[in-house]
Amino acid sequence: MSETKTQLSGPDFAGGVALSAVPDGTLLLGHAQGEPVLLARRGDELFAIGNVCTHYDAPLNEGLLVDDTVRCPWHHACFSLRTGEAIRAPALDPVPCWRVEQQDGNVYVREKLEQARKQLPALLTDRPRFVVIIGGGAAGNAAAESLRREGYTGRITMLSADASVPCDRPKLSKSYLAGIASAESNFLRSPEFYQQHDIDLKLGARVATIDTASRHVQLVDGSKHAYDSLLLATGAEPVRLDVPGADLPHVHYLRTVADSSAIIAKALASQRAVVIGSSFIGLEVAASLRARNLDVHVVAPESCPMEKILGTEVGTFIRKLHEEHGVTFHLGTKATSIDEHNVTLENGETLQADLVVVGIGVKPAISLAEQAGLALDRGVKVNEYLESSVPGIFAAGDIARWPDRLTGEGIRVEHWVVAERQGQTAARNMLGWRERFDAVPFFWTRQYDFGIAYVGHAERWDEIEINGQLDARDCTITYRQGGRKLAVAVINRDIEGLRAEVEFEREIATIE
Ligand SMILES: Cc1cc2nc3c(=O)[nH]c(=O)nc-3n(C[C@H](O)[C@H](O)[C@H](O)COP(=O)(O)OP(=O)(O)OC[C@H]3O[C@@H](n4cnc5c(N)ncnc54)[C@H](O)[C@@H]3O)c2cc1C
Ligand code: FES
Repeated sequence: MSETKTQLSGPDFAGGVALSAVPDGTLLLGHAQGEPVLLARRGDELFAIGNVCTHYDAPLNEGLLVDDTVRCPWHHACFSLRTGEAIRAPALDPVPCWRVEQQDGNVYVREKLEQARKQLPALLTDRPRFVVIIGGGAAGNAAAESLRREGYTGRITMLSADASVPCDRPKLSKSYLAGIASAESNFLRSPEFYQQHDIDLKLGARVATIDTASRHVQLVDGSKHAYDSLLLATGAEPVRLDVPGADLPHVHYLRTVADSSAIIAKALASQRAVVIGSSFIGLEVAASLRARNLDVHVVAPESCPMEKILGTEVGTFIRKLHEEHGVTFHLGTKATSIDEHNVTLENGETLQADLVVVGIGVKPAISLAEQAGLALDRGVKVNEYLESSVPGIFAAGDIARWPDRLTGEGIRVEHWVVAERQGQTAARNMLGWRERFDAVPFFWTRQYDFGIAYVGHAERWDEIEINGQLDARDCTITYRQGGRKLAVAVINRDIEGLRAEVEFEREIATIE
């Protein structure tokens, strides 16, 4: 992936290219001043921005040009062609921008432009003086950053029960656990970042109560923080396994950096691992432990892994993928007890285990919302602006159930990009924007060298269409209900995934 940053290809834009080399609506990769540059054309306008996505370094020239933005092919971040700004997560930082000049039928990329700082519009006079964010995860962090990016100068306090600064949670079951990524790369930002942006991040700060009448929160240590506007972004907690032996020290869960580090430490001294649960976390953990050469057994009650989310065909493919990598499945059964050396299953089997990782789902962390008297509906109920039933209190991320315009249903999803985008929208609405949250849900998973990206939301479907070849890892999978397209998953067809996202967005735009 780092090759994108270092290797230059295509024309040197400083020396100029013919305008005809960039037809309207296209992207052209080249370079200028030693950096990869993406030239984009929209009608008579030409733009030059950095070609490397600031999330995980994807080459943006393989993405999609949509209006005056470019969408990243890997995880659908969106950058402004005019300013380079990362308009939508998961990228949080802008890409550079260059001045473009046209002369005698040629296009030249000239000097790099300064990033403009935003000023908060004057009309937002009743903006909050004190913003408190509860949660230092995907949504909380994105919200704090967005507030500053939008020009908010008031006080921001971010209270996080985590011991470390906000982390890149998806890495914890993938590259970090597999031993590919360093511990430092887990953190979204350095502690200095929060100081520089005047975000008062308090770690190990668990909020015990919210007083909605006097507008303050109280931590378990008794300290209090007043707020004018509050964001609740407490995420989700792993569901605990309820069998004898589940509290033994070699039984692990995975949510935080500390959890992942503890699994790594145990894996280094282990030979056999049992993973309980065969959904995303369980299977990503299984793949990462195989990368560390452990003997891995996966136990789950369903007959096909990930069938509920991706369907039988994809589930069967994923099972085969893991078996080819040496994983043994024990499906249609459950763990009934655990001791220091074994996991006993309902079907009578006994599996040796030095390490057990439990990934049997999560539940939204809503106890604070409940205590504060917010309306709940299997999560915190919010309106299209992500505001809860109590004015001034917003909710975002894994806890929020919002009205999905595409289906007309209240939905709650547990995905990284959704949480970050909700944090961004909630932040703007805390400043009075009244922006509807109508981003199309997106998630990805990566296991071994296999990745799948999913756009939309299909809790149920009555038809799956596979276009292409699943076995060749080259296909588009469409999920429909009553003939209506609800979601699209792609394997090695990034551009199709981006097109599906834009198609859903355009459909949403027509719904009133
Ligand atoms: C290992 C792992 C891998 C994942 N991989 C993917 C992936 O590949 N793709 C994908 O789309 N999604 C993935 N996810 C899901 C994704 O990480 C979540 O959807 C996302 O983190 C949700 O963001 P959030 O801000 O709602 O919650 P979180 O990121 O969980 O943050 C919640 C924060 O709230 C804090 N908190 C909770 N209660 C309190 C309290 N009372 N007081 C103060 N602070 C509190 C917590 O300490 C934490 O800082 C993964 C999740 C995990 C755990
Ligand atoms: S690499 Fe661009 S969004 Fe992830």
